Amino acid sequence: MTDGPASDGRAAHGPAASNPRLAPVIRLAPAKLNLTLAVLGRRPDAYHDLHSVMAPLDLADRLSVAPAAGPEDTLRVVRGATGPIADNLVLRAIAAARAAVGRNVDAVPLAARLEKHVPVAAGLAGGSSDAAAALDAALSAWGADVAYEAAALGELRTRIALSLGSDVPFFLAGGAALVTGRGEMVDPLPGLRGTPPGVLLVTPDVRVATPAVFAALDGEAAAAPTDARSTRASSEHLALEWRAGLGADALLVRAGIFASANDLANAADFLVPGLRALRRALVRRLGRPVGLSGSGPTLWVLYASTTEAAVAAAAVRAGLGDGTIVAPGTGEPSIIATAIAAAGARPARDPGQEVLT
Ligand code: C5P
Repeated sequence: MTDGPASDGRAAHGPAASNPRLAPVIRLAPAKLNLTLAVLGRRPDAYHDLHSVMAPLDLADRLSVAPAAGPEDTLRVVRGATGPIADNLVLRAIAAARAAVGRNVDAVPLAARLEKHVPVAAGLAGGSSDAAAALDAALSAWGADVAYEAAALGELRTRIALSLGSDVPFFLAGGAALVTGRGEMVDPLPGLRGTPPGVLLVTPDVRVATPAVFAALDGEAAAAPTDARSTRASSEHLALEWRAGLGADALLVRAGIFASANDLANAADFLVPGLRALRRALVRRLGRPVGLSGSGPTLWVLYASTTEAAVAAAAVRAGLGDGTIVAPGTGEPSIIATAIAAAGARPARDPGQEVLT
C-alpha cells in the first residue's frame, strides 16, 4: 500500500492546511479470513506465537478522510455500530500516525467517514483493517509518501500498525499471506489460480473479545486445542502448497483439512454456548466443511463462486426460519456471501468512488 492514484490526495502535496481543496482519500478496508490458525505457544510478552494462512475478502468497510473543518480529528460512522467513537481504531490510527511523523509532514486534522459492512468483534478483523486503512489514508493525505523514502515509510507503517494491534500489519501487505510471530511477520503469498473461491460467512449476534478467547485457551482445560500438532502441520502444509502455486479448485478440495485447523475453536465454543451446535447444523445443512475465522464467532464455508455462496446463504436463512438451524445470540446472525479477494485487486484502495464527508 505504497502507491496510489493522483486522485487519492498525493496530487495536492505541500502544506495541506494551505490547500483547502486537498482531495479526499478513500480506502477499502477488507475483512480477513483465517483459513488456518495454529497457536504455537505463549510468549514472554503475554501474546501468543501464531502460524496462520490469512486471506482478504471482497467484503470491506469503506473509509474516507479529508481535512477537518475544525482543530481536531473527527469520525463519523455510518451504517453499523462499532462502540464509542473515541475508542475507534480509526481515530487511534490517525493519532498514532501523526505522532510518528512528528514535524516531518504537515499532519492537519482529518475528518474520517467510515461505512461499516464487516461484522464487529467477529473474528474478521474489521477494526484492525479500518486501522490499517486509516493509517494509510492519513499518511497519503499528509503527503508522507513524498516526505519519506519508500523503505523508511514502509518501516514506519509497520511499526505504527503493530502498535495498533496484532492483525493490523497483515492488511498493509494487501493480499493473502502467511502470518507468524505475534502477527507482525507477514509473508505475502501469490494469488490463487482460477476464480477466487466464494465464501459464506455466518456470524452469530454475539461479540467475542479476542483476549477472552486467548485467556480461555490458556486457562481452561475444555478450551484446549483438540490436536495442536495437527493444526500446525495443516497450516504449514497449506502455506507451502499456496506458495508453490495453488489453484482455487485445489483450495476447495482441501477445505475439509483446514476447516478443522484452528486452535482457538474449542476456546470460542467454550465462550459461546451454541456455537458448536450451529457449526454442526451448518455442516448437516450444507454438506461442506465449516471453519471458524480467528477467535470467532464467524463460521465460514468455501464455494466455487460468490453465486454458489449466495445460494448457500439462502439455504441457511431458510434453516433459521424453519428452526432446523439455531444460532446463539440475541438477534439474527449476519449471513454474508462474498469471495476471497482476487490477487491484484488491491483491496485496500477504492479510488474510483465518490466521497461524502
Ligand atoms: O494485538 P491485539 O490488541 O489485537 O490483541 C488482542 C489480544 O489478543 C491481546 O491482548 C492478547 O490477549 C491476544 N493475542 C495473543 N497473541 C496474539 C495476538 C493477540 O495472545 N498473537
